[in-house]
Amino acid sequence: MKNKIRVLYAKIFGTKTSPRLFFSPGRVNLIGEHIDYNGGFVFPCALNIGTYGAITLRTDRLINLYSENFASAGIISVSIDNLEYQDAHLWANYVKGVIRELLQEKKPITSGFDIAITGDLPNGAGLSSSASIELLIAVMMNELFHLGMSKKALAILCKKVENEYIGVNCGIMDQFVIAHGKADNALLLDCITLEYTYVPLKQPKYAFVIVNSNVKRGLIDSKYNERRLECDAAKKILQRYLPISELCDLNEEQFQKYAIFLFDTVLYRRVKHAVTENARTINANHQLLAGDLHAFGEAMIASHWSLSNDYEVSCPELDYLVNVALENGSIGSRMTGAGFGGCTVNIVKYTDIYQFQANVIAQYKTTFGIDAEVYIAKSSDGTREITN
Ligand code: GLA
Repeated sequence: MKNKIRVLYAKIFGTKTSPRLFFSPGRVNLIGEHIDYNGGFVFPCALNIGTYGAITLRTDRLINLYSENFASAGIISVSIDNLEYQDAHLWANYVKGVIRELLQEKKPITSGFDIAITGDLPNGAGLSSSASIELLIAVMMNELFHLGMSKKALAILCKKVENEYIGVNCGIMDQFVIAHGKADNALLLDCITLEYTYVPLKQPKYAFVIVNSNVKRGLIDSKYNERRLECDAAKKILQRYLPISELCDLNEEQFQKYAIFLFDTVLYRRVKHAVTENARTINANHQLLAGDLHAFGEAMIASHWSLSNDYEVSCPELDYLVNVALENGSIGSRMTGAGFGGCTVNIVKYTDIYQFQANVIAQYKTTFGIDAEVYIAKSSDGTREITN
């Protein structure tokens, strides 16, 4: 891929200057879904598939952007002095948003630049291609303009871009793990304090396997924001009775006791998911550390049905993929990411992977007529410059 991005850059911008190269991973969340914005724990890892970028600085104030994944859009050119969101700029809005935010924070982005991007992360598959691009640009700027910002500061800035510039009210999980990822490790993150620990992921007999449903739902952003509003509404009600700041401050016992005040079955189910998912995630950390993959797998399955039945962010294709995975030897399976399509993550014995892949793909195709894709999740370091 390193060579590929170098060649791409030369094809688009010529060979006069030699670019600096960067990689930014995607992410898969193992457990702890839809609770980063509810003050819970999440358990993602950065992936070795992601976004590659090549950059050179210019002497004027022009920003030229090219992505091989959106080749038909050609080179998108903007001025550093006009970074307003524009629908026509598609993916380039992520870049513009990051630069704009850095400038608003008075960071010295003093010239324009040329960037070529390529990647091996499927777009819209719930593996966080957007946060991957945001961090790619943030880290490039941090390095090229010597901004001296910490990974944490970069992650927070990119989340702000997603919330305020792109308009998706996401939590901190994706940007944080993409910035802080570590090869062979998952990251257990407390989304309130932003304290985290790395948890070794390599298991002698089992792999984490991603199945891409190739279902892309158009309504995902609005549904996502709707869930956040529901959680806020539920929180406001519960705060009349309990001194909580976030839904995940509730333990299961308190939830049982005070749920009656919600008077609303939808809000009840949303809170039930948040509270039980947080407990599952905290336990899952101990289960993984103890090498108890079966218990971890059980927690993943419970997480999936909680997301499907109580939080209602799954879809028939994802539910089917979970069932089929379990019928084909997986000991843990769940949807991952925001949902409404995208991927499942599964625990599968190394020796069974080939058969698992063949069966899941065939059965899914017969039922839905869609080709699923299967990848073995390999964890990686966070966004970084790649040198020769
Ligand atoms: C998206 C968001 C995250 C998180 C997940 C669901 O990926 O960007 O902040 O809320 O959905 O867990």
